[in-house]
Amino acid sequence: MDLNLLNSELTKENLLSKIIYFDELESTNKYAKENNITDDTLIITSHQTNGTGRFGRIWKSVPGKNLTFTIVKSFKIGIDEIHLVNFYSSYILCETLKNLTSNNNSITDFEVTLKWPNDIILNRKKVAGFLLDVRDLKKELKKFIIGIGINVNQEAFHEDINLKATSLLLEFKTEVNPEELLILFIKNFYDRLFLLNNKNVLMKYWNENSNIEGKKIRFKKVEDDTEQDATVICIDDDGGLKMKLNDDKVKKYYSGEISLIY
Ligand code: BTN
Repeated sequence: MDLNLLNSELTKENLLSKIIYFDELESTNKYAKENNITDDTLIITSHQTNGTGRFGRIWKSVPGKNLTFTIVKSFKIGIDEIHLVNFYSSYILCETLKNLTSNNNSITDFEVTLKWPNDIILNRKKVAGFLLDVRDLKKELKKFIIGIGINVNQEAFHEDINLKATSLLLEFKTEVNPEELLILFIKNFYDRLFLLNNKNVLMKYWNENSNIEGKKIRFKKVEDDTEQDATVICIDDDGGLKMKLNDDKVKKYYSGEISLIY
């Protein structure tokens, strides 16, 4: 990891205040949660040994190939708007991947989309995921621990997940410079924060990149592993997934997992 480059591009006014790098670390999110990290700090490691994913799952990442990092940042945001930071972060990464490819003529013929609630899908497979934690829930200024894992140059995935997971390298057929991607992402992230004060626009942009309205899905409630098939009505501005079940009942969920039925 070229820390000099990251520092010279990213530690400045209106961007990061500090970058904390580890050659190896259990989890960047865990580190952020267990230490008193100031705002606008980026914690990053080349080798995350015990990364966590949503629903307490493991987030595996081949050492030195991918991006695993956490941004610590506070926002003045209401308790009912916390989900917006999730949607904002994934939207920004989706846009960043499009920016990255528009700078490189050799990358063509790919589809990057957002999958509710916050996965990035590249050519129908997951390429990045987000895990957020919020502190100071009772205060006006809430501290967010925004953990992001992006599969960048990983060449292969374990057979258990290789039908569902991919990397930028596998889909773009060319290596991506992790520092370049990270710099672009952080700059976009800080550049468009005004969207957090404009939830209708943010959710409209998010929805435009997810293209899920009217699609048939299988919805899984992770608490009890039950599944139901449904047709998506929309993702509401409050972040809920509104869908019509096969018996015509309309339901809205705020957590769970979906897969498209093709
Ligand atoms: C998911 O899709 O399940 C979320 C994956 C989030 C993984 C990232 S990697 C950096 C940060 N540290 C962690 O332990 N997890 C997040």
